[in-house]
Amino acid sequence: MYSKTVIDRFQNPRNAGGMHGANGIGEVGNAACGDIMKMYLKINDDGVIENAKFKTFGCCAAIASTDMACDLIKGKTIEEALKVTNKDVLDLLGELPPHKIHCSILAEESIRAAVQDYYARKEKEIKKSTKKTTQE
Ligand code: FES
Repeated sequence: MYSKTVIDRFQNPRNAGGMHGANGIGEVGNAACGDIMKMYLKINDDGVIENAKFKTFGCCAAIASTDMACDLIKGKTIEEALKVTNKDVLDLLGELPPHKIHCSILAEESIRAAVQDYYARKEKEIKKSTKKTTQE
């Protein structure tokens, strides 16, 4: 039912866990199954994703998909990471049963949510520093 890669990634995820100093954290969930995914990104000043980790409260396919998604975006620029889709995740995982495809979509969505959070934090920082400058 699951490919060897899916089972391996589920049993030995390479990127599981939280991250100190993450500057982009995205959380997504699927209301139908109740699964939740949290993606942590460390993005450097050049806009390159130095590290990606995840925590998933979910099924085997969700864990394998997010773990693979982390590998896919590490070392990529934000723009490149935003082009990663669940299809890319599936290509590397092998196959998922049709009723588990949404698990890989959650992985894709978690990347976007984390990047969105990164931009929101950046905007806050800019507003803060602009406020300081105008007050001085
Ligand atoms: Fe919902 Fe896998 S069953 S994420």
